[in-house]
Order: sequence, then structure tokens, then C-alpha cells
Amino acid sequence: MPDNVGRYAHITGWGAHVPARTVTNEDLSQVLPTSDAWIRERTGIQERRIAEEGEYTSTMAIQAGRAALKVANLDPSALDLVICATSTPDYLMPNTASLIQDGLGAARAAAFDLNTACSGFVYAVSVAAGLIKGGLYDRVLVIGAESMSRVMNWSDRSTCVLFGDGAGAVVLEASDRPGGVLASKLGSDGSGGDLLKVGLGTRLPITEGAVARGETAMTMNGQQVFRFATRIMNEATREVVEQAGLQLSDIDLIVPHQANTRILAVAAKQLGIPEGRVFSNLQRFGNTSAASIPLALVDALAEGRVRAGDHLVFVGFGGGLTWGACLVEWSYGPSRQWSPGQRALRWTRDRLAQVKRSLHRLDRRLAVAGRRRGKGAGEPWDGLGPGEG
Ligand code: UT7
Repeated sequence: MPDNVGRYAHITGWGAHVPARTVTNEDLSQVLPTSDAWIRERTGIQERRIAEEGEYTSTMAIQAGRAALKVANLDPSALDLVICATSTPDYLMPNTASLIQDGLGAARAAAFDLNTACSGFVYAVSVAAGLIKGGLYDRVLVIGAESMSRVMNWSDRSTCVLFGDGAGAVVLEASDRPGGVLASKLGSDGSGGDLLKVGLGTRLPITEGAVARGETAMTMNGQQVFRFATRIMNEATREVVEQAGLQLSDIDLIVPHQANTRILAVAAKQLGIPEGRVFSNLQRFGNTSAASIPLALVDALAEGRVRAGDHLVFVGFGGGLTWGACLVEWSYGPSRQWSPGQRALRWTRDRLAQVKRSLHRLDRRLAVAGRRRGKGAGEPWDGLGPGEG
């Protein structure tokens, strides 16, 4: 058993990627019975990014992951685990995290997806921190990535104006230096599952009728989810602060799930903290589900809103219903400094990982194409196929 005493999980790298295509409220009002005024007043959203053809949850996640590894100055082959928080995976199988692991060239890493919708990033950071503190892994890449535009009913104005696409990532690393992820509190109430739903799955056959009725696209009871969100953001934040042995006044910045500026305003009031200490960037990206907290974190860092030693709360809520909050003592300044030599070494190792990945993929293709048949001693299961046993 490893000696786990004094192990901490620090966030050592961060990065984001959003599609280039921007869709404004004005653009939507050309094709839907909606208006810029309604969307701004009811949600705070001004524009969102929408993935273009050839852009997927995994491809955005790989870009975000690369950016985070660069800040941490870590080459992909050093990663032990990749967790992708998403409710819009590329496929039901294989899992998106494995596509990311391959895309990055993280040859040593395990990989799995985690689907708790908009709470996904907080869940994934909590799991990663637990695995690091427990001594199982030293370096974990956590990515929140979503292609929400692909599960929207684009004729339902009550949902499609709210969501956007993107990816954000953090690297967590083990250290004996106190700090990092200090506490986390996760929760679920499945009785509210129908309030926020994408019916794609094995329970609902994908028939033309189901698609036409909008059953395979997102549906949401906005008012019920609004009530839940304001209550739970307040409760989960208070609980995680208490768990860490701190006071609300010790919190420098709350980085919440970006669903609606009105939710953030109500929660700030209930918590008794100034709205300025609740970070918001949903004006530019809308609700990006599991990607929203890391996208907000990266913007907060870029705006100089986070300094070393600050106490941050990440708080998420959404489909499931699920919710979660993490309290993080931030370990670094807004940018990490590496010497040219350190950067060059990482760059070289990164390229090496890419080359190894390409060779590995080529090898697999050749094996699948059967070109190596007859060259080796054969596979152990040769001769055990149907009718051959
Ligand atoms: O990420 C997961 C968590 N999700 C959330 O936290 C979302 C929580 N919910 C919300 O943010 C809000 O409930 C919404 C933004 C979704 C809706 O705001 P609302 O103030 O609750 O509006 P509403 O649903 O009560 O609708 C008010 C009116 C309705 O018209 P009538 O019935 O009053 O005539 C809607 O049909 O606004 C209408 N409406 C729209 N009008 C113009 C709904 N969507 C639109 C639209 N443009 N896009």
C-alpha cells in the first residue's frame, strides 16, 4: 500500500478550446421567434460558439487538453489518467476519453468518460483528486467537453438559444505541498431526471417518429431547473466551504456553472457575497454544460482574477439531477513560467508522443487489414472462431 499521508492534488495546468463559429442572439432571431432582448434579459447570453462540420467533443477536448499540458509543461506520455466529463460523447462506444488519450498520444494513460451533465467537471475533478490523494495516480488530465448544438431541437426556442459548444481542461498533479483540491461535495436526485433530458440512448429506439417528435433532442423544464439551481448552488457552496473548515468570507472567487446570470445573481445574494466574486462569462459562450466551469476558470485566470493562494469554489448543477462543489486553494499565478530549455524538452517529448501515436495507429491499421497474417506465430485464439473449434 502506498503511503498516502500528506498527498495533495494541485491544479498545475489549464486550457480551453471553443469553435471559431460564433452565433449571436441576432443570428438566432433571424430563424426563430426570439429576440436579442429576450435572451439577454432572461439569461445574460449574447452569443455562443457552435461546432462546425468535422469538429466533435473529442477534437475540441484534445485542443483544450494540449493547452493544459503546455501550461503544466507536461508531456502526454506522463499522464496516468484522462477523464472526460461530457454528456455529448462522440459515440456511445468507444468512450470519448479514449479518443482523447489516443489523440494526445498519452500512451500510458487510462481513460474514462463521466456523465453527470453540467456537474460533470466538478465530479471529474473530485474523482481525480481522490485518486491522486489515495495514491493511485500522480498526474490526471480532466476535461469538460460538450457538443450541445448536436443534441438541440433547433425549433425549440426555449432550449436551443441557451446552449453552446466548447471544451476546458485542467491537469491535476500529486504533491506533498499542502493546497490544491481541499474539499468536495457531490450530490444527486434522480427523481428529477425528466426535468432535463436528452432521450438518446438504449431505452428509446431512434426511430424517425422519435426524432420528429423531438424526443431524441434536449428537453428542459426551465422554471423547475431554475429553482433547483439557485437552491443547490447556495447549499453546495456552503457545504464545501464548511467541509474545508473555512468561512464564505475566505472565498476569493466562485467559478460556477454558467447557465443563467439570474441564477448567479440570486445565489450570490443568498450566499451574502458580492456578485463581483461570482465569475461569469456566459455572455460569450452560453451554457456549455460540463465545459462551462473550466472555460470560466481559464477566462478568470486570463483576466487576472485568480492569484496564488486564493480560495476558489467550483460549483455545478444540472441534469440527473446532479450537483457538486469543489474548494480549491489555487497553487500558481495566472501564468506559469518555464525556462526555454524546459519548454523545448516538453515540446520534443510532445512531438515524440505524437510520432509514437501515429506509428501505433499505423500498426493497428495494418493488423486490421490482415497484412501481417502468416508472418507471426498467430494469435492465441486462432482456430477458435465459429465452426473452427
Ligand atoms: O445547465 C443546466 C441547468 N440549466 C439551467 O439552470 C436553466 C434554468 N432555467 C432558466 O435559466 C430559465 O428558466 C430559462 C432561461 C430557461 C427560461 O426563462 P424563464 O424566465 O423561466 O422563462 P419561461 O420559461 O417562464 O418563459 C417565459 C415566456 C414564455 O412565453 P409566455 O408563455 O409567457 O407567453 C415562453 O414561451 O418566454 C417565452 N420564451 C421565449 N421568448 C422568446 C421562451 N423561450 C423564449 C425565447 N425567446 N428564446
